[in-house]
Amino acid sequence: MTRTVYVNGEYLPENEAKISIFDRGFLMADGIYEVTSVLDGKLIDFAGHAARLERSANELDLALPVDMDELIEIHRKLVELNGIEEGMVYLQVTRGAPADRDFAFPDPDEVPSSIVLFTQNKPGLAESPAAKTGIKVISIEDVRWGRRDIKTVQLLYPSMGKMMAKKAGVDDAWMVEEGKVTEGTSNNAYIVKNGTIITRHLGNEILAGITRNAVLRFAQEAQMKVEERSFTIDEAKDADEAFVTSASTFVMPVVEIDGAQIGEGTPGPVAKRLREIYLEESRKAAV
Ligand code: PDD
Repeated sequence: MTRTVYVNGEYLPENEAKISIFDRGFLMADGIYEVTSVLDGKLIDFAGHAARLERSANELDLALPVDMDELIEIHRKLVELNGIEEGMVYLQVTRGAPADRDFAFPDPDEVPSSIVLFTQNKPGLAESPAAKTGIKVISIEDVRWGRRDIKTVQLLYPSMGKMMAKKAGVDDAWMVEEGKVTEGTSNNAYIVKNGTIITRHLGNEILAGITRNAVLRFAQEAQMKVEERSFTIDEAKDADEAFVTSASTFVMPVVEIDGAQIGEGTPGPVAKRLREIYLEESRKAAV
């Protein structure tokens, strides 16, 4: 089945969808994005992703070409047209395509933002085998720009981080700045010590994960102790458990950091419990 995608007001087969070579997303990485997961054919935490999209747009003076009611309709229609039961919807908004390349932003009244959405079909997403064994990570220096709280499409360094991980024979990388873990290449990072869940506090240094927000809320509701503060790789290596969260992996246990086994080297009870609660509660609240 050919995938149907959405581009600037039109639903089209993916091979007919086109964006200008002058689009600032292409030339300048001048764009923002969201990834919303789909379970049971429904959107997980859509309201959170929509709110963060609006925030990213405001921070960059980027006009959103659709309102939030239209946005959920587009998401739902793509999920339906592509028959997605489990997977993701990717959404990208860029500052559009001016007549020529120019560092200065174009006038938004003359150059409308571009919007693209497509689905990714991932049957078995919730039952991922990796969640049963856990993943391995290495640490790398965080050399990204200083506004990681904005979800921009500048993903070159995170992609390089993934390749460094691959080359080292592991699954992902945790980024470290001034000796403290910021986040994973495409997820938020956590450790668990003596029953306390520790994850970096929010700020410009990391993305405020929508999954992070939900997981911390569920943890507190389940009377688990949460500390929002930075931690070092040494502290992580000495932790009882580690895990990451994101819209595409939910709660994913981490069992090795820079070659050091974490806990028993298998997914720990806190990560497993949080994954269960997250999947159960998110499914109930899905739209
Ligand atoms: N990535 N930190 C970074 C750097 C991310 O790229 C992501 C998400 C997260 C987790 O955010 P959320 O829980 O809202 O997904 C944290 C998405 C999934 C991606 O780029 O595919």
